[in-house]
Amino acid sequence: MTVSSAPGKVYLLGEHAVVYGEPAMLCAIDRRATVTATARDDDRIRVQARDLTIDGFSVEYGDGVVDESTDIDVPHPLIEAAVGYVDGAVEQVKEVVDTTGFTITIESEIPLGAGLGSSAAVVVAAIDAATREMGVELTPEEIAQRAYRVEYDVQDGQASRADTFCSAMGKAVRVEGDDCRPIEESPELPFVIGFDGGAGDTGTLVAGVRSLKEEYEFAADTVETIGNIVRTGERAITTEDQQELGRLMNFNHGLLSALGVSSRSLDAMVWAARDAGAFGAKLTGAGGGGCIVALDPTPDTATALQYTPGCEETFRAELDHDGVRVES
Ligand code: PMV
Repeated sequence: MTVSSAPGKVYLLGEHAVVYGEPAMLCAIDRRATVTATARDDDRIRVQARDLTIDGFSVEYGDGVVDESTDIDVPHPLIEAAVGYVDGAVEQVKEVVDTTGFTITIESEIPLGAGLGSSAAVVVAAIDAATREMGVELTPEEIAQRAYRVEYDVQDGQASRADTFCSAMGKAVRVEGDDCRPIEESPELPFVIGFDGGAGDTGTLVAGVRSLKEEYEFAADTVETIGNIVRTGERAITTEDQQELGRLMNFNHGLLSALGVSSRSLDAMVWAARDAGAFGAKLTGAGGGGCIVALDPTPDTATALQYTPGCEETFRAELDHDGVRVES
């Protein structure tokens, strides 16, 4: 039995634009997905994922086991996607090790489809646990590459390398096309997360931005401007200028909103954070619902979010310096 874990992430700046080759900056956070892989004597793949929840919905089928050999009555499209990610991870493992079968158990502290990189963390941890279980140790870079291929397939080619690279490497990372690198001086930022209890559909949201961009030159310019915000943010991150980062996050959120990927609850949480005195706040990830991230060293934003209609949960998050790691 081998247990590995990998962190979720927040987008500091640059989601959506990163899909078109603009840079993005992400930070791994101390909420992790943990995967246990146990080699089996037969050639079956059994996946147990009791803790992956969405809208209070647990991934449990019949006896609580997803089994490749049985028909699964999938009750929710996002859960169907989650099953797709796990299947993809197992396919990647089969490319590396001559395997028979595995029982894979997933526990996750990261809400599903909410912009905190839940799928990337599960895929990264699953590839690490299953390959180690068979005596093979992949580098975090190789795990990131294989996990990206899984996301790319499940999301019909609409995925950047950002989430999977950040989850595999930990710390803060910068991604621009195929060029992915850790930010050496990753700053400790006072993240506050607000979660509306919902989720967005990444594929649909990415497709929406793509069609706006194709239809209107100003939408294409908006995507480029997001890239410029990220470039400006790189200076702020090296000087740990939280006020400037906050201002850039606010600008970035406005442009994401213009591109149609925010929502009433995300906007409400962003405004609550700003009113509470946060340096800045924005949605994180694909949008449509899910999470916002704010920068606030005081307790004020978390307190304000607790009373914001549409906010179901709020918590602080720390930069996680560890990427994928073996637990036992
Ligand atoms: O919501 P998430 O964590 O799946 O992030 C999606 C980020 C996008 O830039 C919209 C898509 C991508 O693959 O980079």
